[in-house]
Amino acid sequence: MSIEIPPGLTELLQGYTVEVLRQRPPDLLEFAVQYFTRLREKRLQDGDGEPLRRPPTKGVNFDGEPMQTESNGEEEDEDDDDSDFEPPGINRFSRRIAVCAEAFNPDDEDEDTEPRVVHPKTDEQRCRLQEACKDILLFKNLDQEQLSQVLDAMFERRVQPQEHVIDQGDDGDNFYVIERGLYDIFVARDGQSRCVGRYDNHGSFGELALMYNTPRAATIAATTEGALWGLDRVTFRRIILKNNAKKRRMYEQFVESVPVLKSLELSERMKIVDVLGEKNYKDGDRIIAQGDKADCFYIVESGEVKIMMKSKTKAGQEGNQEVELTRCKRGQYFGELALVTNKPRAASAYAVENVKCLVMDVQAFERLLGPCMDIMKRNITHYEEQLVSLFGSSMDLRDPGK
Ligand code: CMP
Ligand code: CMP
Repeated sequence: MSIEIPPGLTELLQGYTVEVLRQRPPDLLEFAVQYFTRLREKRLQDGDGEPLRRPPTKGVNFDGEPMQTESNGEEEDEDDDDSDFEPPGINRFSRRIAVCAEAFNPDDEDEDTEPRVVHPKTDEQRCRLQEACKDILLFKNLDQEQLSQVLDAMFERRVQPQEHVIDQGDDGDNFYVIERGLYDIFVARDGQSRCVGRYDNHGSFGELALMYNTPRAATIAATTEGALWGLDRVTFRRIILKNNAKKRRMYEQFVESVPVLKSLELSERMKIVDVLGEKNYKDGDRIIAQGDKADCFYIVESGEVKIMMKSKTKAGQEGNQEVELTRCKRGQYFGELALVTNKPRAASAYAVENVKCLVMDVQAFERLLGPCMDIMKRNITHYEEQLVSLFGSSMDLRDPGK
């Protein structure tokens, strides 16, 4: 059973929660009194009786960039209040209140009594589905029962070349896992559509609109014949969002302590947690292999990772011996270089004893880690210096590959 949420309530509480997380006040009740009093004062000052009921003319998209919405088209006055206080009312969640009314509270156990979606499958379909889903990061933290509910609910969808699986701006219906096929990602901004990336026979897409109740943030167009597995919005939200709430509780503090993410806002770090998957390795496991195509970025959560590179012969050729370059410990990252330079993996990474990494796919890396790119690029200079001191000859790690 779902209870209708009054318009504005979600934003009101969300705004308060964000401020609590930002400012960490000692007395939540006292802070609430101050917060809501200031909010009411601001509303009176603005001469606006009901800001929380009105659809916004402007919002911010998931990247925090301004986004046009479908309201009356008139420009609103810029909010020139330069204090730290950010009243809710104008944000990307506002537009989708109607959809929000499906009202899922991740901690509400009653949701588990809702009828489950099941699409019967043959053994052959189930095998293909399991193979397609085995590396899907959003499924990595699910327990056995949750995963089997997700797999039961998934349905097969075949696509033809040029077919749009998702159109930017639409409401979100399904999340998709790729079984095969190539899919271009187009993002339209300022009236210009640009191809920003491609899914190549694996990965998943369509999670953002379902997670954040936002319009589709990109168009996904098949460029070949392909096969996808869809997961309906209700099941996605019931299981994946519940899991994300748990992930936020588990990783919020850790992610805050990761040096490379320091420059991000709290809300940006939380979006990172939402798309991270946890991967575990045993002593000696190869996490990435030198020369491989890259599709993930890693942060060490526990244990140690050894970075090894094949030594160079005098003629500059790759030798067979591996030389240790460095070790990454809790809070350190690796696997960014190939994503930044668009080249194959420059080195291999091995687990030393048991290792847990938090992993992000290349699409999320490009979307969410833009503000950290300077630090990562500066670090490439350190890698190059290290390689000169180890191998005696210089190596241009940035030289564009392919
Ligand atoms: P969603 O917004 O639901 O629908 C479009 C999907 O494209 C989005 O979820 C992401 O899964 C995916 N996507 C991949 N790259 C991008 C990008 N750069 N910007 C927005 N969406 C992207
Ligand atoms: P990537 O090339 O994607 O995969 C191997 C990773 O090893 C690389 O990203 C870096 O994150 C990491 N690494 C650590 N030290 C070096 C180094 N000196 N040269 C290249 N890569 C390094």
